Amino acid sequence: MFTQEFHRSCCCSKNASSNRRNDHVCEPRVDFVFPEVRFPSRRVFEVAGEKLLRELVHRHHENLLKSQIFYLFPTDKEAMEKLVKRSADFVVEMCGGPDYYTSTRGEPRMRSRHFSVTIDEKAREIWLACYKYALKEVAFPFSVLEEFWQWIESFSIRMINRRTTLEPPRRVYFDEIKNFFTP
Ligand code: HEM
Repeated sequence: MFTQEFHRSCCCSKNASSNRRNDHVCEPRVDFVFPEVRFPSRRVFEVAGEKLLRELVHRHHENLLKSQIFYLFPTDKEAMEKLVKRSADFVVEMCGGPDYYTSTRGEPRMRSRHFSVTIDEKAREIWLACYKYALKEVAFPFSVLEEFWQWIESFSIRMINRRTTLEPPRRVYFDEIKNFFTP
């Protein structure tokens, strides 16, 4: 009974078959380091404009609902509309627009606001891919595209709250994807 409980609570695979408690040591391990996140400058808001930023977030959520992670999002239309509005308020504000989000929702605390949702590495990649398509669909201005992308690419890593692999989350640098946006 004791052995069974012990194995179940173990977090390393190396020694998982040991049945002697004293031999079983989980070595210290660094999981992964959150990369630096550079928030967009006000130029993004000035160049893209509020209308386009809102359209972008709307498209992003449409894509999410068609994606493999649709089940993470509210099924209720009204709840989804609320979420899209909050997300758009957040994006507009972070890009240099009015403080729509913090004036209604308070401190962003984005990581903890996502704790109710299980976000693993794959979910984050899908979330990001949905943004990639949305950016293209709304013809996001190329001059501020890199700035916007490097923000969401690095920031999205901080939302991962379930690890399914020992590999660090996949980086998707702008250089890798920029050709996707050029005609
Ligand atoms: C809320 C998914 C990353 C901004 C939510 C919700 C889901 C979700 C399911 C609704 C939570 C609820 O029911 O209350 C994801 C997934 C991500 C991700 C799968 C993958 C990494 C991000 C990132 C940002 C962001 C990087 C910011 C750029 C927001 C905002 C809200 C939200 C502003 C609304 C928070 C509020 O209620 O005030 N997200 N998200 N999300 N997400 Fe994300």
